Amino acid sequence: MSGTQLTVRRLAAGYHGFRVIQGLDLDVTPGVTVVLGPNGAGKTTLLKALAGLLPRTGDAVLDGAALPSADATACVRRGLALVAEGRQLFPQMTVTENLELGGWLIPARLRAERLARAFDDFPRLKERATQLAGTMSGGEQQMVAVARALMSGPRLLMLDEPSLGLAPRMVDELLAIVRRIADQGVTVLMVEQNVRKALQAADRGYVLERGRVVASGEAQALLHSDAVRQAYLGAA
Ligand SMILES: Nc1ncnc2c1ncn2[C@@H]1O[C@H](COP(=O)(O)OP(=O)(O)OP(=O)(O)O)[C@@H](O)[C@H]1O
Ligand SMILES: [Mg+2]
Repeated sequence: MSGTQLTVRRLAAGYHGFRVIQGLDLDVTPGVTVVLGPNGAGKTTLLKALAGLLPRTGDAVLDGAALPSADATACVRRGLALVAEGRQLFPQMTVTENLELGGWLIPARLRAERLARAFDDFPRLKERATQLAGTMSGGEQQMVAVARALMSGPRLLMLDEPSLGLAPRMVDELLAIVRRIADQGVTVLMVEQNVRKALQAADRGYVLERGRVVASGEAQALLHSDAVRQAYLGAA
């Protein structure tokens, strides 16, 4: 096994018959792939459609097996996990309880093992295991959300704007965690508005505009491309 791959072809998705994404092709290979694009481009719609939270047409193939449309539980069982925009923790539950919920599909014993592993990987969460999630800082909450997603043992981890609202140092810490997760063998697909830092942490990138891919390639190449620099990095 050389790592998990997701191949997306002719994907279309939207709301109430209105297509937000159309004819989208994506190759998510081991490492970190970042999806960039302006507000409303369809980035969240793309992740939701891949996670089975929205109906879609077209093909999404994870390691050779087709993913079902609009079946989120099946997608989790097949190894997909999504950290949604805004984290969506249970604020009145503890850190431990939030993490345990991420392992709702797995046997109790495996859940306990994964919880121990999560606390090894995120020492800051171990210190705060009994704290109510809603009282954690924004960065800590994002760590809980990532650790919770890892509880299902995903092969492909998808993150929707994990750095949203975080202070610069916390953004760096979070992107370093994402990098480490990918280096440990979980393929990562991440939506980010923090273009420069995201491309520095990623291997490859796609730029989405109005539901279509307008640029793609190696992260370093995109970072230095005129299109990305003019549109997102404020280059003259
Ligand atoms: N539940 C919904 N019902 C109807 N239209 C929606 C719904 N969610 C999103 N849309 C529309 O779909 C389009 C794409 O939205 P989406 O959330 O995918 O964009 P995005 O690229 O994630 O933007 P942002 O950077 O602001 O998060 C937008 O025009 C949005 O208004
Ligand atoms: Mg979004």
